[in-house]
Amino acid sequence: MASVFLLHLRWALSGEEICDLRLEAHSPIAGVLAALEACKEPETCQFSVLLDGLLLSEGRSLAESGVFDGVTLDVVRSSPCIALTTCADCTAKVWNTANGRCLLSLTGHNHLVGWASFSPDGRWIVTASADCTARVWDLSDGTCRWALTGHGSGVCCANFSPDSSKIVTASHDATARIWMVDSLDCGLTSYRLEGHRADVCHAMFSPDGLLVSTASEDATARLWTNSGILRSALEGHSGGVESAVFSPDGQYLVTASLDSTAKVWRVAKGSEQTVCVFTLRGHGESLGTSFFSNDSQKVISVSDDGSGKLWSAEDGLCLATLGKLRDICSAAAFSPDSQLVATASHDGAVHLWRAHCGSWSQELAGHSEAVFSVAFSPDCQFIGTASDDSTARIWCAQTGRCLRVLAHPGGVYSVKFVPSQRA
Ligand SMILES: *[C@@H]1O[C@H](CO)[C@@H](O)[C@H](O)[C@H]1NC(C)=O
Repeated sequence: MASVFLLHLRWALSGEEICDLRLEAHSPIAGVLAALEACKEPETCQFSVLLDGLLLSEGRSLAESGVFDGVTLDVVRSSPCIALTTCADCTAKVWNTANGRCLLSLTGHNHLVGWASFSPDGRWIVTASADCTARVWDLSDGTCRWALTGHGSGVCCANFSPDSSKIVTASHDATARIWMVDSLDCGLTSYRLEGHRADVCHAMFSPDGLLVSTASEDATARLWTNSGILRSALEGHSGGVESAVFSPDGQYLVTASLDSTAKVWRVAKGSEQTVCVFTLRGHGESLGTSFFSNDSQKVISVSDDGSGKLWSAEDGLCLATLGKLRDICSAAAFSPDSQLVATASHDGAVHLWRAHCGSWSQELAGHSEAVFSVAFSPDCQFIGTASDDSTARIWCAQTGRCLRVLAHPGGVYSVKFVPSQRA
């Protein structure tokens, strides 16, 4: 008769009990994982099992892994293959990229959802919609926990603070707002960031969570404290500012403007002034966005002139012009290890480039309409793209092969991967 083990499962970090299982000694560790997924959460999280701090391999049996009757196993959430897209059908969708299945369709908005992002702790999703609201969704089951109402016009961007405790929203009503996640249950209080004279197109927290940047069509960017007090107005652009993105080391900010330039600013500490250190000139048309590589060494800018440009963040010199695309360059992404850059175009082309020299690496061919968004997975293995051709695609970053086509009922505006959790 096969011997059956009683297993006590608990969360490795909190020590909190999850459940008890009975499994035969020869069943594989994968059986523990399957039972966990069935009893605990849908496939939005993947799990790993540890015995005395050692990771147990899925293919081996309980007995082979040193598991015995009555043992307590520790469970951690491991890096899942989860992507988030927003679609013209007024939803955001969560996908398991390992099998291409749609796990959750987040319904509730009644106008297009142009932006969605994860909380860094992987618990929440925030969506920003033209219906004047942002919504916060529980990633474990897709329920809408809060609708953030109050903006007088469409919300174009919403981002969490690095500790996942706050959300900043940017709106066409010329304001941004900061929301405290913990107090959302006790009524909708928010700090209003007022002062811009035209649409706010983008807003985000600094890497230390202390500052918020806003970018506006009024040709300025502004820096605020995380309680909404204005710290500085960054003036100098002669056209609308489309994005204002902090460097990952928190020392700089780069603004991208319709005036065809980007500007790099040194973010002030204390009472100093935030000053422009470089103006990145060379593009022939409006910039869509600009941001830093993860190592804060390089800047990419994307332009309606059909090119992306790679710049040195050290001296503001242009290192390379990434192709001459046949149409508007709409999006770009650095791989998290800062080795690769991906650019995407309104003609459906997606290209990969080597970030150290800007030389062409390969084309990701497949989309038939404009590509609006491109992202790398945190482990640098995968690239996600979102297109007006009603698909998002998942590509192997090494070979450029298309691994999954995620079919949507309408154009796809954005794609993001779930952040890796520093558990
Ligand atoms: C991103 O940059 C940080 C800080 O330099 C570094 O610790 C981390 O390893 C980088 N991430 C990757 C994927 O290389």
